[in-house]
Amino acid sequence: MRVSIIGGTGYIGLVTGIGLAAKGHRVICADIDRLKIENIERGVLPICEEGLDALLQEAKRYGNISFTSSIHSAVIISDIVMIAVGTPEGINGETDMNQLLNALKSVAAAMDHHKTIVIKSTVPVGTNDMAATLIKKHLKSSSITFDMVSNPEFLREGSAVKDFMNPDRIVIGTCCNDAAQTMRELYRCFDCPVIVTEPRSSEMIKYACNSYLAARISFINEIAEICEKVDANIQSVIDGMKSDKRIGGHYLSPGPGFGGPCLHKDIRSLIHFGEQAGADVGMLKAVLERNEKQIESIVQYIGTILKSIKNKKVAVLGLSFKAGTSDTRNSPAITLIRKLVETNCKVSIYDPVICKIEEHLNSSVIMAQSIGEATVNADCIVVMTEWEEFFTMNLDVLYNGMRHAFIVDARNIISPDRALKAGFQYKGIGVQRSGAHLNGDHLMKRII
Ligand code: UDX
Repeated sequence: MRVSIIGGTGYIGLVTGIGLAAKGHRVICADIDRLKIENIERGVLPICEEGLDALLQEAKRYGNISFTSSIHSAVIISDIVMIAVGTPEGINGETDMNQLLNALKSVAAAMDHHKTIVIKSTVPVGTNDMAATLIKKHLKSSSITFDMVSNPEFLREGSAVKDFMNPDRIVIGTCCNDAAQTMRELYRCFDCPVIVTEPRSSEMIKYACNSYLAARISFINEIAEICEKVDANIQSVIDGMKSDKRIGGHYLSPGPGFGGPCLHKDIRSLIHFGEQAGADVGMLKAVLERNEKQIESIVQYIGTILKSIKNKKVAVLGLSFKAGTSDTRNSPAITLIRKLVETNCKVSIYDPVICKIEEHLNSSVIMAQSIGEATVNADCIVVMTEWEEFFTMNLDVLYNGMRHAFIVDARNIISPDRALKAGFQYKGIGVQRSGAHLNGDHLMKRII
């Protein structure tokens, strides 16, 4: 089938376009960002996702994919026009729809025969209806027909190609049987259930999924806090929970709170349009409140252990919002670093895939090039992201280079016993503070 992807160099558009082309469809990825188009044509991808480049080469070998900065030329040669432009968070959680509105107008102006128009971007419920009205208004002729489809995506950063090529399900939102059939044909080569519903429910599925994932994370973080207060062990609790098939084990890892560009944005958008529709969204608000509290409690704990230390230095391991990506949007580590700087802490940061900090912090923050460099003369290590190399770092060596031996493990990836044996006082999330029975001697190693 001939498909154009509008917003085809963005995160979702590029993965979707390359994935569909690799599956044998004729795809043209269109984007107004000429530089990105030129770079992609030179083989330079704007995003780093495992397997994406290989898939692009495969699609190119079949001659199934091309790139253009002309929305018009992409639309007129395709039967399915898929819109995957950004819908970023606006004020008070409202979705900024500008890119989508502009894309819809450009598509309508280019149309010269029947199209199936698919909105893949994450959009508030009711957008498909609005889009149909807008397109009708901007068509060159009222004789040109089209069908609208909602087709949300469920791709995670760091595993987007795997998630696209192995979907748990395909969601199609349309009132038109022909459009539903067209979409079934588009996704024919994917081995998974295809759920066809009307557009509003399809749009809602995306928000419900992301908000549910966020709720699970905030839930387990709250359970972890109670575990700490009652001397229970969160990992044992999770082991006992996940064995229940109704619960499972995914999205039950306690941590510094969820970050990233999507979960925050989507739950805030759901709260916004849910409230506008008159719904009581108290639970969704509580999920966000818990998430904000999660990083606050880590910051407070670090403040407590450092308060008696002059010229304190904290080593933050991991800057991105999760392992497997260099994305720092809504990263809890950034929040932590800002708070530490406010309390006149020196901060050294190490992240395996980020060499410099985009955002301006100040001269008391340095970007180290190794774990060792980050932790030398530090008073506290804070593990913020679950990168593989942090699981196995040599604590004995790090201990010898540090001024004080505190470790805050915001991802519970280090064994408390291993930390204790190396001489650290350990703090995890929902686990007993090992080493709490030790006197302070092993902490006052060297006063510099
Ligand atoms: C998410 C959704 O998973 C995906 O379906 C949607 O399309 C886009 O948003 P992503 O933002 O890439 O994907 O991140 P995800 O892997 O879901 O993690 C989100 C955040 O939750 C990260 O900060 C992660 O560290 C945190 N997390 C995840 C936890 O704290 N605990 C967990 O158990 C799982």
